Amino acid sequence: MEVVLFIGIPASGKSSFYRERFAGSHLRVNRDMLKTRYRELSLYQWCLEHEQSCVIDNTNSTREVRTPWLRPAQERGLKITGYFFQSRIQDCLERNRQRRGADRIPDVGVRDHHARLELPSLEEGFTELHFVSMTEEGFTITPWHHEV
Ligand SMILES: Nc1ncnc2c1ncn2[C@@H]1O[C@H](COP(=O)(O)OP(=O)(O)O)[C@@H](O)[C@H]1O
Ligand SMILES: [Mg+2]
Repeated sequence: MEVVLFIGIPASGKSSFYRERFAGSHLRVNRDMLKTRYRELSLYQWCLEHEQSCVIDNTNSTREVRTPWLRPAQERGLKITGYFFQSRIQDCLERNRQRRGADRIPDVGVRDHHARLELPSLEEGFTELHFVSMTEEGFTITPWHHEV
């Protein structure tokens, strides 16, 4: 099994990327849908116990937030793949403004995640890291490098 962790501010394309690439193979762990930390962690625990690949489809902006997801997977020696969504704040604000209903959050929510964002690093426990960018033609994945 594989644990995939997304890192990206709101409206950077995470859930769309999940649907395009992982919906057929990986279970989706997502705060917006599951609502509570307890439910998220219960589902994640279930995946680990039953060797079900999953994607942690949250902003995961800071190292502090990522660690509780990474640690149990590391302890089991699992493959942990991180996808960092490269995105311009203005593009994300615009896409967020175009959303309707509960999917749309106040601008400050987008800005706050952008301000707090900490780049992931392999030292945190990722087996692999990739960049993802959303283009008119779809998603482009590029190899990780540390000079961003
Ligand atoms: N290739 C694309 N080009 C432009 N906009 C897109 C593309 N794919 C998805 N979107 C739009 O971008 C917005 C944010 O995408 P979403 O996947 O929900 O982001 P996140 O899960 O990171 O919040 C959505 O409203 C979606 O319709
Ligand atoms: Mg989403």
